[in-house]
Amino acid sequence: MKKNLFFTILAVIALIACKQQPLAIQKTSERGPIGDSAMIVSAHPLATEAGLEIMRQGGNAFDAAIAVHFALQVVFPEAGNIGGGGFAVIRNKNGESTTLDFREKAPKAASRDMYLDENGDVIPLKSRLGHLAAGVPGSVAGMWALYQEYGSLPWSDLLIPAIRLAYHGHLLTELAASNLNDAQEDFKKANKYGTWAIKEGGWAKGDSSVQRELAATLSFIQNQGRDGFYKGIVADQIVKEMQSGNGLISFEDLETYEVKWRQPVTGEYKGHRIISMPPPSSGGVALIQLLQGAERYDFGKTGHNTSATIHLMTELERRVYADRATYLGDPDYYEVPVAMLLDPEYNKKRYSDINQKRKTSSEDIKEGKVEIIESVQTTHYSIVDREGNAISVTTTLNGYFGCKVMVQGAGFFLNNEMDDFSAKPGIPNMFGLVGAEANAIAPGKRMLSSMTPTIVEKDNRLFMVTGTPGGATIITSVFQSILNVIDHGMTMQEAVNAPRLHSQWLPDIIVAEKGRLSEKTQSELEAMGHVIEFRSGLGKVDAILALPDSTFEGGADYNRGDDYAGGF
Ligand code: DON
Repeated sequence: MKKNLFFTILAVIALIACKQQPLAIQKTSERGPIGDSAMIVSAHPLATEAGLEIMRQGGNAFDAAIAVHFALQVVFPEAGNIGGGGFAVIRNKNGESTTLDFREKAPKAASRDMYLDENGDVIPLKSRLGHLAAGVPGSVAGMWALYQEYGSLPWSDLLIPAIRLAYHGHLLTELAASNLNDAQEDFKKANKYGTWAIKEGGWAKGDSSVQRELAATLSFIQNQGRDGFYKGIVADQIVKEMQSGNGLISFEDLETYEVKWRQPVTGEYKGHRIISMPPPSSGGVALIQLLQGAERYDFGKTGHNTSATIHLMTELERRVYADRATYLGDPDYYEVPVAMLLDPEYNKKRYSDINQKRKTSSEDIKEGKVEIIESVQTTHYSIVDREGNAISVTTTLNGYFGCKVMVQGAGFFLNNEMDDFSAKPGIPNMFGLVGAEANAIAPGKRMLSSMTPTIVEKDNRLFMVTGTPGGATIITSVFQSILNVIDHGMTMQEAVNAPRLHSQWLPDIIVAEKGRLSEKTQSELEAMGHVIEFRSGLGKVDAILALPDSTFEGGADYNRGDDYAGGF
């Protein structure tokens, strides 16, 4: 019976296959592409195109978001996910805003010390590689909930572009091939059987990625909505996969997974209104705290990425990340003092000891040597439509290709989001982030996130839609995308292209992008006491700016990834 359904679905997939339309408007030099009535910016041209296809058929921004989300699963398996989760910030055409939390949850069998050995030490990689690292996925429930509230076209239409891409294949970019190659050893360790992702001799640019099993999984979701994932064949496959590798996700975990609609956190910044993600993401709270600090300074005057500006941003950041480590967690399990953290009086005091000329040491607050690991993947997309709806979504498997386990027969990777919990107080996770009680593991709890999907208004009108991947660096990258436009007068594309920096309290350093900080600025910062380290890239911001003539500028981070803005 189940087999018959499988083959019927494959036949349907073959029927809906059709030729792809050419890609929409390309970028220009200093401005990104301009759309008169719609704009999508995502991590991959084919995902952007999937959303545009839906909007050309009359779909709204939310329909397009669902199409983009499922398409990213196919063309960007590093982070695109039905095996993961994320957050959406929404502002509809009436100017009403809300947020959708489809973050993964700890399985019911999870426990506080599950990643510790008998001496109470964290067992390396246990929360990152393999079945035990996976939280209960939230993405399909998230897309289904988004559709129930805001969708306009038939649900089944929204999955057509993704199913077509999975069934017929797409050509890998150089970056996609290299990401797959980097993960080959881990794929072999985490999977007992061959998956399409494992390729002897390695992947090359232009290779075709055909994912028939994934096409079948997507078509179950196409036919049965959320039940096509959390019940039936796909649920069977997930639980079987878990059992084969001592993972914890059960049928009950899948069936009882629930999204949460949450009130956004909001704040003011120099005449703009910031609408962002509340806990269990730390992103919105931290962003608004940073912006309250930035209100104290005239960064336009101190200048973009001068030592004076970088120093002040860093001093704000170290204080905000210290708060994050102590106070932020899943609000359903821990009383997060959001009102206190967003109180301007609190932040005024918090920032009152900033010395304009000299760094304050993080060691005064907490000691510890922590490392930030580079190789990570999340993804963000921003969408606006002709009716004035806007959606900002950041979504992830956590590390690239998540826990590297592909569900046998179902063709998708599971997340390793459990690593976002604090496995032990004060011991850093893969992003060097520390935490304590607020973010301790508990059954059914959501792990703390840094994802910061954000929408900015000016004069009650849509002004900007922004967000990025990048683990701990998400908050500071979104912060800079906003400062670059508001304080430094950049176009969206310039704001996305500009060199980024990051600091997070611990480790007590500033991270800069390699080759993008002048020697002069570096030595001035060092003279103030800062230690600078370099990384190849920070974040991949995909953002949209609403221009005064009512058109939209897309800013895709095409220098740091395969990201692509398209509109019409
Ligand atoms: O939720 C979080 O904050 C992390 N799991 C995000 C991971 C991430 O951004 C990795 N990406 N580049």
